[in-house]
Amino acid sequence: MKGEVRVFEEAIDIWRAMADRWREIAAAAVAERGSFTAAISGGRTPMGFYCYLGRTAGIPWEKTDLFQVDERFVPRDDDESNFRLIELSLLLKAPIPPERVHPIPVDGNSVATAAARYEREMRDFFRLPAGAWPSLDLVLLGTGEDGHTASLFPGDDVLDEEERWTAAVSPSAAEHERVTLTLPVINRARNVFFLVTGSGKAEALGKIRRGADRAVPASLVDPKEGSLTFYLDEKAASGGAR
Ligand code: 6PG
Repeated sequence: MKGEVRVFEEAIDIWRAMADRWREIAAAAVAERGSFTAAISGGRTPMGFYCYLGRTAGIPWEKTDLFQVDERFVPRDDDESNFRLIELSLLLKAPIPPERVHPIPVDGNSVATAAARYEREMRDFFRLPAGAWPSLDLVLLGTGEDGHTASLFPGDDVLDEEERWTAAVSPSAAEHERVTLTLPVINRARNVFFLVTGSGKAEALGKIRRGADRAVPASLVDPKEGSLTFYLDEKAASGGAR
């Protein structure tokens, strides 16, 4: 499988390496296209990184548009809300203009409507011709012990999505209905980072690195024209990920 694997001893070393790369990618995007677009995941693992990133100097926050990779269909003040985690960790410190922060809506009646609304918002933002896909500058992903990534769970029909940018999912293996970016969007990104730590994810990572397998959705992440980097600690790397 393509992609670079970087393994670090301490969480702080992972965060520093990721923040350095984030700064380089953002600077290059701003120089080439005038702005930088990123989509970031929720879950617990990236919180420390988001706190670190928010305090990192030299990031062009005023030219950053921030999207979400996925969201649980729960109110914003719920502990399970990914956006809430992002607010509490990254947005408390990172001075992104509010109009450049693009949270997945959770205030509607249904998760399907939320997914459709988010896709419309992204389409309005990117203003592409019909049939074209967006290229986010950076997508930050995590994975679960079952090999899911974003809200793309093993065996879900959403893994076959070829038209929509976003989808509503009701995973049997996880709590809450969710909205997720689809694989074609993730795989058009210019850069994809996986941040994975802890021995609980080691086996899944070994499988992810073994090659594309629908039973392990994170293994389907394969940016066509972009870079793919795994940022791991020793424990996560111990299951054959290297
Ligand atoms: C979510 C995510 C998800 C996450 C993994 C890992 O909403 O749950 O965006 O894909 O990255 O589940 O989550 P943890 O970091 O909490 O283990």
